[in-house]
Amino acid sequence: MPDVPAPTFTIRGDLTVHRLGFGAMRITGPGIWGDPADGAEARRVLRRLRELGVDLVDTADSYGPFVSEDLLREVLHPYPGMVIATKGGLTRHGPDVWKPVGRPEYLRQCVLMSLRRLGVERIDLWQLHRIDPAVPAGEQFDVLKQMQEEGLIRHLGLSEVTVEEIEAARRYFPVATVQNRYNLADRASDDVLEYCEANDIGFIPWFPLAAGRLARPGSVLERISHDLGATPGQVALAWLLRRSPVMLPIPGTGSVAHLEENQGAARLGLDDDAFRELDERGREAWRADQGA
Ligand SMILES: NC(=O)c1ccc[n+]([C@@H]2O[C@H](COP(=O)([O-])OP(=O)(O)OC[C@H]3O[C@@H](n4cnc5c(N)ncnc54)[C@H](OP(=O)(O)O)[C@@H]3O)[C@@H](O)[C@H]2O)c1
Repeated sequence: MPDVPAPTFTIRGDLTVHRLGFGAMRITGPGIWGDPADGAEARRVLRRLRELGVDLVDTADSYGPFVSEDLLREVLHPYPGMVIATKGGLTRHGPDVWKPVGRPEYLRQCVLMSLRRLGVERIDLWQLHRIDPAVPAGEQFDVLKQMQEEGLIRHLGLSEVTVEEIEAARRYFPVATVQNRYNLADRASDDVLEYCEANDIGFIPWFPLAAGRLARPGSVLERISHDLGATPGQVALAWLLRRSPVMLPIPGTGSVAHLEENQGAARLGLDDDAFRELDERGREAWRADQGA
């Protein structure tokens, strides 16, 4: 039998979640701005999460902004058995425009407003969406540490960070999760993933469905998907789940059919040969994209 990692991960030895979660960024309007085109379908997606046993949901105050957190509150509150992970530290100036603001006063407001919108007394997992380069990182980490000590935040995570930045943050608080872009054909964060695995930090790969060149007709991804009777997206997710026991993919969608398809990846058995072949071809595709 292939050495398949456990289907669950326990965040900081405290909160156990199924490793295939849901990203709630796509239940907003175009450019992650405003209301979703089909609000009824977005609500059906959220209701279906519970039926499918999805218990890790990733959102952010800036998705909408506020639309994603508001919908989660409307449909899923009080979130029994679910971990709602939100983020703050990015401001919005229009569709697809994201500007970091890491001043401690603002980060505190982000947390206080997410608490109100989500209707909780403590946020299970709050992630700094970006470290603001215009503000000393230590000031940003220090206010997060304070809010955790005050009981506003249960666990703290980071997003789009290097190993050095994780180590700097760990001087202030235990880093529970790291959320970086990562997928079959984007290996820029392999070193961060390995650091997370060595330190039992959850690694949340965003844009998990992307496969770059491997999505082309005739690719190894297409062949393996065909052999398994699965879609390329399901195989890309199954590869992520096998890649590391700390991997927590959060594929996002505003469609029930896509949600169901994506969650089907958790049951997809990827054997050692298929895993290795995808791993190697994905790495090659990534190097080719880097011009290496
Ligand atoms: N930390 C960060 O900086 C950051 C940045 C971006 C995203 N995120 C988080 O990561 C999550 C996932 O990232 P992502 O949404 O960029 O990438 P993704 O989940 O890899 O891809 C989502 C896209 O794929 C489509 N899709 C999903 N399932 C599909 C299926 N089964 N068949 C065909 N198309 C499908 C979605 O459209 P449909 O709605 O039409 O299905 C959407 O356009 C987000 O929801 C968010 O929570 C974090």
